[in-house]
Amino acid sequence: MALKKANILIVDDDYDMLELLQRQLQDLNFHSYKAASVVEAVTILKSNSVDLLITDLQMPGIGGMELIKYVEEHFANVPKLVITGYPSIDGALKAIKSGALDYLVKPFTAEELQKAVEKSLPKKSLHSENNNQSGGESMVYGGIIGRSNKISQLIDIIERVKNNRATVLIQGESGTGKELVARAIHYKGAFAANPFIAVNCGAIPEELLESELFGYKKGAFTGATENRQGFFQAAAGGTIFLDEIGTASPSVQTRLLRVLQEKEVRRIGEQKAQKIEIRIIAATNNNLLQMVKNGSFREDLYYRLNVVNIHTPPLREHKEDIPFLVQNFLKKYAAEYGKSNISITQKAEEVLQRYDWPGNVREMENMVQRVIIMSEKVIDIHHLPEHLKYTLPTTAKLLKPLHEVEKEHILKILSSVDHNKTRAAEILQIDRKTLRNKLK
Ligand SMILES: Nc1ncnc2c1ncn2[C@@H]1O[C@H](COP(=O)(O)OP(=O)(O)OP(=O)(O)O)[C@@H](O)[C@H]1O
Ligand SMILES: [Mg+2]
Repeated sequence: MALKKANILIVDDDYDMLELLQRQLQDLNFHSYKAASVVEAVTILKSNSVDLLITDLQMPGIGGMELIKYVEEHFANVPKLVITGYPSIDGALKAIKSGALDYLVKPFTAEELQKAVEKSLPKKSLHSENNNQSGGESMVYGGIIGRSNKISQLIDIIERVKNNRATVLIQGESGTGKELVARAIHYKGAFAANPFIAVNCGAIPEELLESELFGYKKGAFTGATENRQGFFQAAAGGTIFLDEIGTASPSVQTRLLRVLQEKEVRRIGEQKAQKIEIRIIAATNNNLLQMVKNGSFREDLYYRLNVVNIHTPPLREHKEDIPFLVQNFLKKYAAEYGKSNISITQKAEEVLQRYDWPGNVREMENMVQRVIIMSEKVIDIHHLPEHLKYTLPTTAKLLKPLHEVEKEHILKILSSVDHNKTRAAEILQIDRKTLRNKLK
C-alpha cells in the first residue's frame, strides 16, 4: 500500500467538526493539526510545515476568507480546501465558482473528503515509500519510523537539507537514530548515487584516525609504504559521516576545521591540498557545547559543524510512536526468525508503552528481538524482561512526597543553568543560602 505523508491543517470553530475531520484524516493516514480560530491557525502555519489547509469559512472574529488570503500571501504553495455549509458568502462564492478554490459542502462522506484531499494535495506530499508492512499503519521515511510531531519535524529538516551540502550536526541520546538520520539525508538526497562513508571517530585508535581520515603519502611516516586515500577522498562527491565527533583528538579537530574552512583535504606528508566536494555530517551524544565550555572541543569547529543542527528526540518524548515501532520490529524479527503470525497482547503492549526506554529505540529493538526468540505465537507480559514489568504506572509517578518533588525541581533547574547557583537561586526565587542548605 502506498503510504501518504502529509500534514494537514484543519481550521473550524466547531470542535466536534475538528475532531471528526481529524479522525477521518487519520484513517486516511494523514497527520493533522487542529485550529479552532484563524489566529491559532496562523501560529501553527508559522511553526510547522503544512501541506494542505482545510478551513471553514464562517468563524467568529476573523473569517476563513481572511485566512485564505493570508496563506496566499505568506505560504503561496500551500493548497487550500474550503469546507462550507452553504457557499453563498459573496467573495467566497465568487472564488469558489471561479474554480480558484476547491471546496467541500457539508455534510460530506469520508470518500468525498478523501477525493477532495487527494485532489488538492501537491503530488509530492503524497509521496509513497515501499514498506513491507501489510497494514501500512505506520510511516516509514528512509527507515525512520513514527508519525508523532517530533518525528515529522525530524523528517521535515531532512527534506530541507538533503539536496545541499550544508554541514549537519546531529545530536541526541544514544539509540535515538542519529546514524539512521544521517543515512536518510544521504540516500534521500541529490548525491545518493555517490558514496556514503561512515567513520566512527571513537573506534579508530587516536594515532590512526588522522591517516584514516585524510590518507597519506608514501614515506610520510614509518610504515607508510605506499600512497593511500583517506575516508575523505573516498567519500568525494557524497557524504562523510563523522560519528562520535566528541571523541576526536585536538589534532584531528584542527585538521577538520581546515577541511571545513578551505574545502580541501591534504594527505599526510603532502604539501598540496586537493579541493573536495563533500557533505559532512557529524554526530555525537556528548553535549558538545559543554565540551566547548570546558575546553575539550574547539569552539570554531563546533560552529563550523553546527550549520544545521538536528536533534534526535529521546523515545520517552514521542511515546505515541511506540506501537508503530513495536509492530515494525515484530514483523522484521518474526520474519527473520521464521515465526510468522507472532503477535503481542494488549497488556504487554501497555507495559512497553509505560516504560521510559532510557536506551531509546535501540533498546526497544533489541528487546523485541530477544522476546521473539524466546516466545511462540503470542507475546505476553511474562515474556517481557523483569525491569520493564515493574515500571510504575504513570499515575504512581505522581504519588511523591513534596520534598522529593522539590529536590527534583531544584536539580533540574541547576542542570539547566550549568550548575550556576546564583542563577538557579534567581529562578527559584530563593536566596543562595537557602539553596545551599537545601542542597545539603
Ligand atoms: N525512528 C526510528 N525508526 C526506526 N528505527 C529506529 C528509529 N530510531 C532508531 N532506530 C533504530 O535504532 C537503532 C539505533 O539507531 P542509531 O544507530 O541510528 O542510533 P544512534 O543515535 O546513532 O545511537 P548511538 O549514539 O548509540 O550510536 C538502529 O537499529 C536504528 O535502526
Ligand atoms: Mg550511532
